[in-house]
Amino acid sequence: MNNELRVEKGSRCRLCGGQVEESIDFGPQPVSNAFILPTEVGGEPFFRLALGLCLSCGMAQLLDEVPRERMFHEDYPYRSSGSAFMRKHFEEVALSLVEEELTGPDDLLVEIGSNDGIMLKAVAEAGVRHLGVDASRSAVEVATAKGVRSRVDFFEESTAAAIRAAEGPAKVVFSANTFSHIAYIDSVFRGLDLLLAPDGVFVFEDRYLGDIIEHNYFDQVYDEHFYLFAVRSVQIMAARFGFELVDVEPLRVHGGAMRYKLARPGARRPSAAVSEFVDKEARLGLADPATFRRFAAGISRTRDELLAVLTDLRAGGHSVVGYGATSKSATVTNFCGIGSSLVSFVCDTTPEKQGRLTPGSHIPVMPPEAFSDPYPDYALLFAWNHADEIMAKERRFREQGGRWILYVPDVHIV
Ligand code: SAH
Ligand code: TMP
Ligand code: ZN
Repeated sequence: MNNELRVEKGSRCRLCGGQVEESIDFGPQPVSNAFILPTEVGGEPFFRLALGLCLSCGMAQLLDEVPRERMFHEDYPYRSSGSAFMRKHFEEVALSLVEEELTGPDDLLVEIGSNDGIMLKAVAEAGVRHLGVDASRSAVEVATAKGVRSRVDFFEESTAAAIRAAEGPAKVVFSANTFSHIAYIDSVFRGLDLLLAPDGVFVFEDRYLGDIIEHNYFDQVYDEHFYLFAVRSVQIMAARFGFELVDVEPLRVHGGAMRYKLARPGARRPSAAVSEFVDKEARLGLADPATFRRFAAGISRTRDELLAVLTDLRAGGHSVVGYGATSKSATVTNFCGIGSSLVSFVCDTTPEKQGRLTPGSHIPVMPPEAFSDPYPDYALLFAWNHADEIMAKERRFREQGGRWILYVPDVHIV
């Protein structure tokens, strides 16, 4: 039986066509959001997860591309609105776009990867013309119920052309944690060119390579994160496709992200922040092979330490459960070889994940009520990016003697 996913092999940079020389191979991985039923064990497709660095343009990218329909489809289980912190973040994003960019009476905002309407809800409530585009029908249905206009589609050139014909030009195209998921950037940029008004802007936010490397966030590498952007690589990308990077702003979400603003060349004056970050990345050697190799060494160390800690705890008779069946945890569990003998179950608030098994590692996913019934001795926090929110909500766990295990930036127990 061949469970290998058919993936596009290539060591050519998807941005500049140069050689992707350095790479970190995480071995065979399942589709990170493919939570399976117990009856489906044995039939999962696996693919090679390998992160490469283009030495010509500095773009960090996966070497193999998982077909988009495998990842994003009708039953894609991720729901953005599960975090109160992220709901607040996106409400602020929406209000600032409405205030600063969508000032005309009929201005249109299009969002790529609008999911359950976490951002567009506030735009809709402000009475601003909008359209979400998302590949997941089940997520779009949740958004529609909130009064958010959206369509089920992959954003690409043809989608953009259809939207432009039906709605006219967009003043803003926004995208959060989605642009990095799209390997076919050439088609997306042709679409942006068709859709954006002459003075329009493309604003997107995504995990930042600088934070990922600095804090050893190796689990941000998974199938959906095809690109790991940095300011310099986004600047090169924008220029290559006829746009200009005019502003950047670091964000405190998902462990460290960056908001990028692109406009047509000359339409806006680039802010000082752009050149400051370009200089900083050069000083840090973010696109240097040596930095990449240090990152790889840190990842191996974390794997060995995490496995040793979990193995010792279990051998000592302690109970350990996981918290947050994140996409990131697919990389951690499959790369480190963590299964249900080390972590008995993972609790998660997403109903679509509960009653299923984590992809590849087959750890049962339970509702959050299972966490305190009874409390385990240790909880491995897979959703470390939501640590403040989760630790506050689960305060009693620590009060009664429980301990959290974290593995970023290194393995430690709190
Ligand atoms: N913006 C939300 C959701 C991010 S998850 C947030 O920041 O939390 C990524 C979403 O993008 C998923 O809902 C997925 O279905 C969607 N997606 C992936 N590729 C897409 C594409 N080419 N066009 C539109 N949506 C896409
Ligand atoms: P993310 O890191 O990709 O945002 O995924 C977070 C996962 O953690 C998601 O499946 C929801 C889950 N979660 C909880 O179970 N409880 C919580 O309090 C929060 C914030 C997230
Ligand atoms: Zn390149």
